[in-house]
Amino acid sequence: MHKMLEEIKTMEVAVCLWDELPVGLGRAFQIHNRVIALFRTRKGELYAADNRCPHKGGPLSEGMITGGTVVCPLHSFHFDLTDGSCDQAGQCSVVVYPCRLEDQSVIVELPVE
Ligand code: FES
Repeated sequence: MHKMLEEIKTMEVAVCLWDELPVGLGRAFQIHNRVIALFRTRKGELYAADNRCPHKGGPLSEGMITGGTVVCPLHSFHFDLTDGSCDQAGQCSVVVYPCRLEDQSVIVELPVE
């Protein structure tokens, strides 16, 4: 019968190649109506989060990465890239997205709107 659109909650997007991500830094990508920051740590971990800092909109892709944490370049709040949590009491988390490598492609799972 009719397929319910509500069943489709996420989509996987091949964003770039692993080698296109700078080591130890972030890089922003526009995907549909979102700007996503991808981070490749020096240890070879991959993280995806909204590029916009939930505090006052700083570009997280330009922040410093320390372990699995990004430091916002505007006011130095720290965001844990595993769950998006912020080190400042009462501050909103940043949205993080499931991501993985498939062959050399970086795949990010995004909500369907
Ligand atoms: S805008 Fe990111 S900490 Fe203020």
